[in-house]
Amino acid sequence: MAIWTDQMLPRIFNVCMNGKPLREIRARVCADLSGDVVEIGSGSGLNAPYYPAVVTGVWAVEPSEVARKLATKRNTKTEVPVHFAGLDGQRLDLPDSHFDMALSTWTLCTIPDLHAALRELLRVLKPGGAYHFVEHGRAPDEKVARFQDRWEPLHSRIAGGCKVTREFPAEIERAGFAIKEATHYYMKAAPKYGGYVCEGWAIKP
Ligand SMILES: C[S@@+](CC[C@H](N)C(=O)[O-])C[C@H]1O[C@@H](n2cnc3c(N)ncnc32)[C@H](O)[C@@H]1O
Repeated sequence: MAIWTDQMLPRIFNVCMNGKPLREIRARVCADLSGDVVEIGSGSGLNAPYYPAVVTGVWAVEPSEVARKLATKRNTKTEVPVHFAGLDGQRLDLPDSHFDMALSTWTLCTIPDLHAALRELLRVLKPGGAYHFVEHGRAPDEKVARFQDRWEPLHSRIAGGCKVTREFPAEIERAGFAIKEATHYYMKAAPKYGGYVCEGWAIKP
C-alpha cells in the first residue's frame, strides 16, 4: 500500500488533476491572490502557473515527498517565490496573524482532521485575510449522496484518505470563517460522486 500511496498516487494526481477543466478552475481560484499566501496541500504545484505576480510569496505545506519533488520543477517556472513550509496542514509551524491570504484546492477532503487544518489557517491569517478554495464534497442529489456514502470507505482507501461526503462551505463556516462567495457545480469530465465542488472565498473576521 505504501508504494501506491507514497509513490504512485502523487504521480497520478499530478497527471489527472492537470486537465483543462481543472486548470480553468485553478485559474479562477488563484486570480485574486496577493501578498503573502499560505497554501495547504500544495501537491505537485499545479496551482503555481496561476499565482498572480502581486503574490509576494507562497508558503506551501505538503506531506508527500514525491509531490514536493514534482512541484520543485514546476515552481522554478513561476516568478513568485515558493517556500516549502511544512508537512502537515493540521499543525502549521508558521506565525500567528501573518498571512494576507490562504489557498486550498481539492485538499480538505484528504486532511484527516479538517477542523484542525481550518483552525490553523484562521490562526496564521491576518484579521480580514482571505481564504480562497475549491473543495469537493457531498452532492445535493439524493441518489449521488447515497452512492457517496456507500463508496466512501473504499474510495478513501484507494485515494489516499480522500473523503467524498464532507460538506462545503458549511465546514469552513463552522470553523469560524465568514463566507463571502460560494458556487457549487459538478465538474466537467469527473464522476458525480467525486466531482461536486464548492468554489469560493471566505475571510477571517
Ligand atoms: C487531491 S490532492 C490535491 C493536491 C493539490 N492541492 C492540487 O490541487 O493539485 C490532496 C493533497 O493533500 C495533501 N495532504 C494530505 N494530508 C495532508 C495534510 N495533513 N496536510 C496538508 N496536505 C495534506 C496530499 O498529499 C495531496 O497532495
